[in-house]
Amino acid sequence: MIPIASPVVGDKELGLIKEVLKSGIIAQGPKVALFEKRFAQLCNTKFAIAVNSGTAALHCCTYALGIRQGDEVITVPFTFVATANSILMQGAKPVFVDICEETFNIDPSKIEAAITPNTKAIIAVNLYGQPADYNALREIAAKHNLRIIEDAAQSVGAEFNGEKSGSLGDIAAFSFYATKNLVTGEGGMITTNNPEFAELCKRFRHHGQSEKTRYEYFDLGYNYRMTDIMAAIGLAQLERLPTLTEIRQRNAQLLNEGLAGVKGIVTPKLMPNATHVYHQYTIRVTPEFPMTRDELAAYLKENGFGCGIYYPKPLHLHPHFQKLGYKLGDFPVSEKLAKEVLSLPVHPKVTPEQLHRLIGLIRGVK
Ligand SMILES: Cc1ncc(COP(=O)(O)O)c(C=O)c1O
Repeated sequence: MIPIASPVVGDKELGLIKEVLKSGIIAQGPKVALFEKRFAQLCNTKFAIAVNSGTAALHCCTYALGIRQGDEVITVPFTFVATANSILMQGAKPVFVDICEETFNIDPSKIEAAITPNTKAIIAVNLYGQPADYNALREIAAKHNLRIIEDAAQSVGAEFNGEKSGSLGDIAAFSFYATKNLVTGEGGMITTNNPEFAELCKRFRHHGQSEKTRYEYFDLGYNYRMTDIMAAIGLAQLERLPTLTEIRQRNAQLLNEGLAGVKGIVTPKLMPNATHVYHQYTIRVTPEFPMTRDELAAYLKENGFGCGIYYPKPLHLHPHFQKLGYKLGDFPVSEKLAKEVLSLPVHPKVTPEQLHRLIGLIRGVK
């Protein structure tokens, strides 16, 4: 079975992990500091703050931006639950806005109708590895005095207008979970150019302590620290990232060409001013295709290809968010796409021969 995700790790990672274990410093230490420095360079930001998950990174973002009880934050229902939970964790309310059918990202034309006097920020998710439309988002944010959080969990290395993901909003959150383009097992990173936000994130990951004065608590915080063992893996992964991204993009191109013109299959649309790092290569299986999406997924699995559905149900249809008053019909594009999306293996371990076989299987469905 060709899995939907498979981390590329090897001797580079092992060598650095060994170094850490021998050093005796296995919690947050010099490797975390180096990983942060290199990651900030990658994103072209002044600061990068390492944490132990993408969820922790998002929570640091909502905290640092001063999101508190009574505030509202706009985001999409077509995302992983952590995006919206990072708003709830600060006692604020997630206000959902539907997505664009073509990009799977937030639809800027629908944002202004959702803004109230309580709105403080927008969390834009760069879903599947392609940035949202930050030109439109920045315009709206400037007009209404809102902050932008980039949920960059899936978009490490991507660009918009030639600017790096991680530098597109006021602050950004990355995930290094085991299936991501850059992995540390669990892990995450915050990037920002704002020194105040950076300091607040550092405090928040360390029980509200400043890094300068131990055992002095300025505010509520958590243990969100990354270990040097994780950072060792991250440093090795950073070296691999350009090559791994290139292979993902080449694989996606091969799939785009192979699936072009298949009736009922919509391949991912690349925006003209964005680069896509294909954390997922996600097609839409529309009613014109001879099989339903779920039948196609089962057929591909029977033939040795793992595939994924991200996400089978938009957030507003889960009991957790229905408590906020959301109901079926509120976000029709998200609801429709949740029934159509199918992610195919695009990761760097998939070979062109395997992709040709996958294309042949889909083209052969009658
Ligand atoms: C869009 C999005 N946001 C946030 C997260 C949360 O990251 P983590 O699983 O590292 O906590 C993920 C990861 O699955 C994600 O895909």
